[in-house]
Amino acid sequence: LEETCVISSGLPPTLEWTVDERGNGALRLIDQRRLPGELAFVECRTVAAVAHAIRELAVRGAPAIGAAAAYGVAIGARDDGGLAGAEAAAAVLRATRPTAVNLAWAIDRVLDAVRSAAGGEAGDGIGEDEDGAGAGLAEVALRFAHRIAADDVAANRAMGAHGAELVPFGARILTHCNAGHLATVGYGTAVGVIRAAWEAGKAPTVWVDETRPVLQGARLTAWELQRLGIPATLVADVMAGSLMASGDVDLVIVGADRIAANGDVANKIGTYTLAVLARHHGIPFYVAAPTSTIDAATATGADIVVEERDQAEVTELAGVRIAPAGMVARNRAFDVTPAALVTAVITERGVTRPPRS
Ligand code: MRU
Repeated sequence: LEETCVISSGLPPTLEWTVDERGNGALRLIDQRRLPGELAFVECRTVAAVAHAIRELAVRGAPAIGAAAAYGVAIGARDDGGLAGAEAAAAVLRATRPTAVNLAWAIDRVLDAVRSAAGGEAGDGIGEDEDGAGAGLAEVALRFAHRIAADDVAANRAMGAHGAELVPFGARILTHCNAGHLATVGYGTAVGVIRAAWEAGKAPTVWVDETRPVLQGARLTAWELQRLGIPATLVADVMAGSLMASGDVDLVIVGADRIAANGDVANKIGTYTLAVLARHHGIPFYVAAPTSTIDAATATGADIVVEERDQAEVTELAGVRIAPAGMVARNRAFDVTPAALVTAVITERGVTRPPRS
């Protein structure tokens, strides 16, 4: 099984396939639970380890969990008898988190490739060895996972180029959660647009929402933007309305976990609030996501399953209880923004403005 390394300048790879001196492959992830205090890595050698890393948010963000799961299916195919192992791994990985469609999308891509190869079909050609002997199913799965990873970075760079066109010089941009390098295999979606605008000399500055309760903004987006040298200021989520009212936000840009066929957008909890506020203040509200986030099989946002996570994420802060003992909390990880509140969706194919009702 071959080695790959996807590099996104200035930041270590969010995830990469590594092979040790004995030829054993593993998925190496930045452990996002430990940022920004510590840049540590997790080595996933089993399907269970990949599933655990996704569930526990060691790796998170829609495209990143898709790519991680793709490598998880490859590990299953390697360790557990080819197609049967890939199918068993797919079932375990699919059950980890329900909202981001990129997870199922990537799993299905790898599974389809393995099934095609197992059935002796040529598929798209990547299952065939140059030496004509035919690749093993595990190798087919791994190659497909590499392709998903590489395609993600390419899509993000294309998205960045399209999205940067929408960013005025000196724009003050509000973003939510982390839709950056760490949420993808590299470069980022919403943060990718900000990066591309920065690289194009448009001198954007960023308001980073802290993103309660898991603090992806304060911990991850802030860390990324600091490393990239892009000027950014951290704000409590609840300050967004005040910032807009005082005329300090020129545009909002967020990522997405699933975009329904009608254009409704599921993204990190708090996104809907920002979209309503942006509409009230006449501020553009952009969503940047690869086409793998668009789910034609889900008709509207009402059909999207929103993950509900452990109450402790709300009742505790960094492991310290902040609510009285016995207090019940609700913890929806995502919300759904109606298409009508979205100014435009930016994908690797270009910019789409939803029809206005
Ligand atoms: O719970 P998370 O951290 O996985 O949620 C991530 C988000 O909501 C991101 O905004 C979304 O996945 C887009 S990432 C490019």
